[in-house]
Amino acid sequence: MKKKVLVVGSGGREHAIVDALSRSPQVGTIYCAPGNAGIATQAECVAIKDTDVKGLLEFAKSKDIDLTVVGPEAALAVGIADEFRAAGLSIFGHSKAAARIETSKEFAKVIMEKYNVPTAAYKSFSEYEEALAYVLARPFPAVLKYDGLAAGKGVVIAQDAAEATEALKDMLLDTRFGKGKVVVEDYLEGPEFSFMCFADGNRIWPMPLAQDHKRAFDGDKGPNTGGMGAYSPLPFITEEDKAFAVKNVLQAVADGMVAEGCPLKGVLYGGLMKTAQGVKVIEFNARFGDPETEVVLPLLKSDIYDIFSAVANGTTCAEPEWSNESILGIVLASKGYPGSYQKGFPIVIDPEIDAHIYHMGTAVDSNCNLVTAGGRVIMAVCKGSDIKDARAKANVAADLIKCENLFHRKDIGWQIK
Ligand code: AMP
Ligand code: GLY
Repeated sequence: MKKKVLVVGSGGREHAIVDALSRSPQVGTIYCAPGNAGIATQAECVAIKDTDVKGLLEFAKSKDIDLTVVGPEAALAVGIADEFRAAGLSIFGHSKAAARIETSKEFAKVIMEKYNVPTAAYKSFSEYEEALAYVLARPFPAVLKYDGLAAGKGVVIAQDAAEATEALKDMLLDTRFGKGKVVVEDYLEGPEFSFMCFADGNRIWPMPLAQDHKRAFDGDKGPNTGGMGAYSPLPFITEEDKAFAVKNVLQAVADGMVAEGCPLKGVLYGGLMKTAQGVKVIEFNARFGDPETEVVLPLLKSDIYDIFSAVANGTTCAEPEWSNESILGIVLASKGYPGSYQKGFPIVIDPEIDAHIYHMGTAVDSNCNLVTAGGRVIMAVCKGSDIKDARAKANVAADLIKCENLFHRKDIGWQIK
């Protein structure tokens, strides 16, 4: 009997997961909750919200789902994995306690300190006056991180006292982010990169490295976004850097989480920086990165169902095999993103396009047109003989996605000349 899989989420990351699962000979039906218009071409979309744990659990039971794979952290943060496991269902995703490695900046910092994982020195505050006095007594820029889930918007790099004061007011006095704490940390410099691994307790299986581009516009200008494009491999990260990060970051955290009684069971994502003093952690996520997943999973040569079920069920699995091809993806986002934007603009994809297309925020309207339905809308991913070739191909592909309300960066992978 072929396996029935439920993927939870609705973005480009989930499209890439569904796409990888669709390559598995073991997998029969793939459901995705809630999915999007692109995912609907490869899976059966069901209209259940990703944080509706009760609804998802009932659905999984009613369909005899063999394995559930969780995309977004929001679902982990409300305890989807705990509830599925308590009901005896197989699920790829961390417990609520383990997901704190992403959902609480302070928890992540405590784990890093305790298990000697290299990261910026920090201090955490819940009182505005204390935080401000500390920040004003230190050199700028100041790195201020809101402690809690803030969808990538809770980090402010304040260049001067005025910016720091405003940010601290927002984080500690206003209710915009809710009531919380602020982690103030040293400012680090160097290229950033994303290092993800599958993690099941102490076992980890590293994935190929990727680099995201967080700023909205070319030249790394404009506001911070969820990510405007990504590529792999990264020639500026050496095998030594990688080996260091596997041992001192990914494995150290996986071991630490076991020791803390909240073992990992999903993806550990290290947002890392190669500083002059070596590789250091900027942040952790408890899930696949988006848009990194869209350039990493197409490189997987092994059957992803074997990996997901090995992690979910604690069973054995051969070391995953990866292609070392060059790959690059460009995100097309709604004009105005990451601020406010309008939805419902028709998208026409030229049939001549030669790219993997992952939908991030699309829908089909009442006239059966493909339309924009989110901030990040669609991603064009191309492989090439090297990064420059992949970039050239992805830029051609991005231009073949026609929509009056989309914009995209043209310089993804600019660090590769
Ligand atoms: P995060 O949400 O923690 O990934 O932070 C968003 C962005 O802020 C990161 O991708 C970095 O570019 C920047 N950032 C965060 N922490 C630091 C730091 N300690 N030093 C320099 N830049 C940082
Ligand atoms: N691309 C960054 C993230 O997934 O958080």
